[in-house]
Amino acid sequence: MSEKNITIGLLTSGGDAPGMNAAIRAVVRRGCYKGFRVIGIKRGYLGLLNEEFVELKERSVADILQAGGTMLGTERCLEMHEEDTQQKAADICRRNGIDSLIVIGGDGSFTGALRLAERGVSVIGVPGTIDCDIACTDYTIGFDTAINTAMRAIDNIRDTASSHAKCSMIEVMGRNSGYIALWSGLASGAEQALIPEKGDCDPAEIMDKVSLHRERGKKNNILINAEGVGTAEDLAGKVGERGGINVRTTVLSYIQRGGSPTCRDRVYASIMGAKAVDLIADGKANRVVAYKGDRFIDLDIKEALAMEGAMNENEEYICEIMESLSL
Ligand code: F6P
Repeated sequence: MSEKNITIGLLTSGGDAPGMNAAIRAVVRRGCYKGFRVIGIKRGYLGLLNEEFVELKERSVADILQAGGTMLGTERCLEMHEEDTQQKAADICRRNGIDSLIVIGGDGSFTGALRLAERGVSVIGVPGTIDCDIACTDYTIGFDTAINTAMRAIDNIRDTASSHAKCSMIEVMGRNSGYIALWSGLASGAEQALIPEKGDCDPAEIMDKVSLHRERGKKNNILINAEGVGTAEDLAGKVGERGGINVRTTVLSYIQRGGSPTCRDRVYASIMGAKAVDLIADGKANRVVAYKGDRFIDLDIKEALAMEGAMNENEEYICEIMESLSL
């Protein structure tokens, strides 16, 4: 495969994340710079199956660096769990002369890529999800913007919670991971972050801590509920019932997934997108770009997906610090 004749397929898959556009731009421009052809695939794996292709040149990605979302569109494609569909997708890649497919998304999207790799398609994964829940990497595109957006929203809620001396519970995203809750919580002076990694939440224990803070003269109580522990509505009801108070809930939902990416998300997404192209230029296949220990690295996709993330001592320590700083 001579460098000049390489065709890259590019798709974004799963939940969108701020910075995905920066990564798309980097893949396209770095690819063109290396003399490659880049085909954008719309709507993730669904678009691949429907052959929704668009040729991307340098100017096709002008003015998208600062925009949230993904210009290619994205979908959650459940059909990709089926073997027939995986084979169909691999055949489409081959028939359309795609030498290497770059997939920007989370671990579900990487699993789809692995299935294609097992069917002979060369793939490269770039981590893009606000959840920061891919075990092989310390950073995923979109996480930094999501925590900053959540932090600002919590700051706003604090203003009114303080004026009205209220207890507020804010539900943030993260699927089964508590990173968004932990980071946005510590950054906004929350009292408690209720995260799935810590196991079941005891409403009585949560309320006891709230009461203690009130006795010490706190005017507001900010509790962050990661969606993985259950809904804020349900938990707030139980906590409030226990203490005989009204716990007001706010669900941040897509507010924290949209918006213009932060500087960090733009920079890391640009580096990761460019690195994905460089791996292809170096003849590498079936790799995942990752960020570990302050370095951008690449790992075998199968090994990367086999890694397991558990709550580490550091995160437990952060939780404990958060509670002690909000007294
Ligand atoms: O993976 C990103 C994420 O925003 C999760 O935090 C959340 O659980 C999920 O996607 C929501 O998915 P949907 O877009 O289907 O509502």
